[in-house]
Amino acid sequence: MTLPAIEGRALSRTYGGFRALDGVDLKVARGEVRGIIGPNGAGKSTLMDVLTGRAATRGGTVLLGGRDISALAPRARQRAGLARSFQKTNVFLDLTVGEQIRLAGRCATLDNGEEVLVALGLAEIAHRPAADISYGDRRRLDLALALVGRPQVLLLDEPAAGLTVEESLAMADLLKDLARRWHVTVLLVEHDMEVVFGICDRITVLHLGRLLAEGTPAEIRSDPRVISAYLGTAA
Ligand SMILES: Nc1ncnc2c1ncn2[C@@H]1O[C@H](COP(=O)(O)OP(=O)(O)O)[C@@H](O)[C@H]1O
Ligand SMILES: [Mg+2]
Repeated sequence: MTLPAIEGRALSRTYGGFRALDGVDLKVARGEVRGIIGPNGAGKSTLMDVLTGRAATRGGTVLLGGRDISALAPRARQRAGLARSFQKTNVFLDLTVGEQIRLAGRCATLDNGEEVLVALGLAEIAHRPAADISYGDRRRLDLALALVGRPQVLLLDEPAAGLTVEESLAMADLLKDLARRWHVTVLLVEHDMEVVFGICDRITVLHLGRLLAEGTPAEIRSDPRVISAYLGTAA
């Protein structure tokens, strides 16, 4: 692999003596869409928190495009090109869709707010307060906000949570398309296996805070350890 877009080395995090993340290594290539899967409590959100600096890693290193960003605060990591969206929607309900995007654009190094509005199909509802739009549109707005500034690396924690099957697949297609067009590297935590296996180039499986497996969707789907720890026989 040439220089990974993002790399984590020996990432660990404990909560009151409990090892939520235990020595996880991760290398994601530029432009890759990487799925992060695993049972509830496996450490997926903790991994996102440690990469973005929301939670400190005990030892361990985070590199963004080869640069060690371990000592940077979350805002500085964001300015360096690392964006994230959260498991729960992060939207200010009083502002209109357009106001939120424009506000985010003004704060970003590259103001591509208008482009994001159009690319995510939000231009038609730009005038509407976020409180009045559908849940599906709100999740699309979450994704849009994370894409403002064209991050190098985008971390998404269950962007399709609560969406219908059709909405999830539409969002997955959109995400794949934008990642390709804008050369964004994506780390995607997602429970919907149809979404994960449909759009990810590679998949990382966490279990009990550790790396259980990593590989292509085909490798992961047929990995006996992954099947017994997570996918079950239904996969
Ligand atoms: N802020 C926290 N305080 C205490 N325990 C936490 C905290 N965040 C996560 N944990 C624990 O760490 C483990 C991993 O959590 P998490 O990373 O949220 O898992 P996942 O996202 O894979 O469901 C869980 O057992 C969870 O209870
Ligand atoms: Mg989680």
